[in-house]
Amino acid sequence: MVQTLTVLGLESSCDDTAAAVVRQSEDGQARILSSVVHGQTELHSDFGGVVPEIAARAHAEKLDVCVAQALDKAGVGLGALDAIAVTAGPGLIGGVISGVMCAKGLSAATGLPLVGVNHLAGHALTPRLTDRVAYPYLMLLVSGGHCQYLIANGPDDFVRLGGTIDDAPGEAFDKTARLLGLPQPGGPSVEAEAKHGDPGRFRFPRPLLDREGCDLSFSGLKTALMRMRDQIVRDKGGLTRQDRADLCAGFQQAIVDTLAEKTRRAIAQYLANDPADPVLAVAGGVAANQAIRQALETVCAQTDTRFTAPPLALCTDNAAMIAYAGIERFRTGARDGMDLAARPRWPLDQTSPAMLGGGKKGAKA
Ligand code: KG4
Ligand code: ZN
Repeated sequence: MVQTLTVLGLESSCDDTAAAVVRQSEDGQARILSSVVHGQTELHSDFGGVVPEIAARAHAEKLDVCVAQALDKAGVGLGALDAIAVTAGPGLIGGVISGVMCAKGLSAATGLPLVGVNHLAGHALTPRLTDRVAYPYLMLLVSGGHCQYLIANGPDDFVRLGGTIDDAPGEAFDKTARLLGLPQPGGPSVEAEAKHGDPGRFRFPRPLLDREGCDLSFSGLKTALMRMRDQIVRDKGGLTRQDRADLCAGFQQAIVDTLAEKTRRAIAQYLANDPADPVLAVAGGVAANQAIRQALETVCAQTDTRFTAPPLALCTDNAAMIAYAGIERFRTGARDGMDLAARPRWPLDQTSPAMLGGGKKGAKA
């Protein structure tokens, strides 16, 4: 490690406008000096999903406020920074452009180097920021917009083992909650209902288990749930509290079983290269689900793989992860110029075939 680096990060690829300052000292220890996140949930709540134009406008209005707050909270001026890191994709393009333009403006005005960061790399490198996890580690991103298994070999070196071919699991939880009249975000409300439900009463499919590899599919689960719900309504005229709890429990169990099996396969592929200190890191809002977490921890225990999950505030979208990923890229010599492009799609692993689909929160890879 050569020098202490202090980097400002900007994030605006979905519905959170965020800025953060992260400092990594010579010994490699990174500290979050500030992390400011302005969510937009209420702006989109009437529309059942993120409206890209509204998101982009809100980002453009909020970014400079976030930057000022992040610098203020960190107690540093622009002069104390070594670089500016910004999410350059993948995501909703209007929002990504807002962030990239803001970062270019700051870079042009101060002469500070600019580093474009892949939003997914930000998530995937977070276990190094929080726990100094060593490469290579296995990463499972599970959120409302992402779902993929990655082997992280370096800041720009990821191998994707598989991912969802349609909905992300968080999206499936949110849609399920909507179908059952439960509040958003759907994950916590479905999980709470599932606690007093019988997971065996309704038989949900276990998507893609019959197919080799680690790809996942979740969109069929909500369709199955809708059919079951409609059948109950036809038979009995409505849903009881117990019906709803049983549907939630069956749905959640299907996700748990599928993720457990696919994780077992991903770990087997990862272990085939004999990593010195095998680690599975999980990030994303869905990692908050206790049943999913427990199942993943069990798989890890069975395969002598350490389980780690960053604190929830760093699992969800934030700019500290972008600043940290910027630091790692900066140390490899990466610099971007005024031609840095905002990219709606940007797979972390350029060698694997592209994944299908784009969820309510934008492109999946
Ligand atoms: O990572 P995140 O905050 O945002 C992005 O998607 O980028 O993830 C939010 C997603 C939502 O879909 C939410 O329903 C889901 O994570 N989630 C959960 C739980 N808590 C949040 N899903 C299942 N169980 C939970 N306890
Ligand atoms: Zn994200």
